[in-house]
Amino acid sequence: MTSARLLLVDDSDVNLLLYRSVLAQLTSFDLQVDSHHSSIRALEAAREKAYDVIVVDYRMPELDGLTFMKRLVAETQGNSALVVMVTADKDRDIRQKALEYGATDFLNKPIDRLEFLARVRNLVTLATHRRLLSNRAEHLAAEVAAATNDLQKRELETIIRLTRAAEFRDDVTGMHVIRVGEMCGALARSLGLSQNDIELLSMAAPMHDIGKIATPDHILLKAGPLTQQEYEIMKMHTTAGYEILRDSESDLLRRAAEIALTHHERFDGKGYPAGLSGSQIPISGRFCSVVDVFDALSSARPYKDAWSIDKAFAEITAGSGTYFDPEVVDLFTDCFDDILSIKKRFADGTLPNPWNCHSSQRSEHGSHLPSRSAETRHVVSDG
Ligand SMILES: [Fe+2]
Ligand SMILES: [Fe+2]
Repeated sequence: MTSARLLLVDDSDVNLLLYRSVLAQLTSFDLQVDSHHSSIRALEAAREKAYDVIVVDYRMPELDGLTFMKRLVAETQGNSALVVMVTADKDRDIRQKALEYGATDFLNKPIDRLEFLARVRNLVTLATHRRLLSNRAEHLAAEVAAATNDLQKRELETIIRLTRAAEFRDDVTGMHVIRVGEMCGALARSLGLSQNDIELLSMAAPMHDIGKIATPDHILLKAGPLTQQEYEIMKMHTTAGYEILRDSESDLLRRAAEIALTHHERFDGKGYPAGLSGSQIPISGRFCSVVDVFDALSSARPYKDAWSIDKAFAEITAGSGTYFDPEVVDLFTDCFDDILSIKKRFADGTLPNPWNCHSSQRSEHGSHLPSRSAETRHVVSDG
């Protein structure tokens, strides 16, 4: 049996009793009927409960039927009740106004029992169908959201795996790139960027060094310091990454292209490849350069031990205004607890489920990352 909620509003208790006795004949529905002779009290009730059908008298003390309807729309968010107004036949203007305020139907006063019954039955049926449709729409929306979420997870998995493939020679398990993504997300959250921007950055930043796929082994894996010529070739991983990722229709890949191109720019304009400075460097690149260097310094590499957290942090603050945007360094300092917890959560050790990583709800994972990234070598050798 379908159920529906009805609200009856009439200042006459006699009328309310009459309505109730007629409604008792609607035995094919499970009706929950509330009635109020105070229109103000009825409005309060409508604010508290979602009614399917409201029968409201026009001529009432306190609020008349029109004012009631006006306030009902204004004060009940998403109110979807079907409203029947009870008026005298001569109140043509009132009916016009009631239609403007969203009345669905009218009943003549004094009411005819059969007419009242038929109208209410139709409206309850209509309201029930509307509710079923709306439930169905909600159900479909939830299914679409779940499917989209699934797709995004798979997209992220593909990206992480391709990123790992590109970095496999010097970042075997890929935890560094995941941490860089998470840390960029933490900076974005701390700056108050939108959830969409936070997720985009977290997912795009792991691709920052994808251009290293074009860096020859003898340079990428060289144990000693690079010659100037080798360094010039190493620097090309930024433009190579940009070329790989550019011109996509995907926001994610476009953001990744931007980060790949600009994550070695320096705030003072002495970085590469373009020598951009200050706000010429996209915020994504400024974020990535800070967390990339911090994470690379504080991670073990084949040619160096991990720096202590304090020493790596000091290196970042020392680079404020030269290497790094001072405002981003301040942000990094402000959310340093988050940075450390990411460092711990995605510690080198065991292989994670990387496609579960970018959201704010992450499980504990870990893996080992014997990596010697370009950024470590450059900062360490430069500074
Ligand atoms: Fe890099
Ligand atoms: Fe890196």
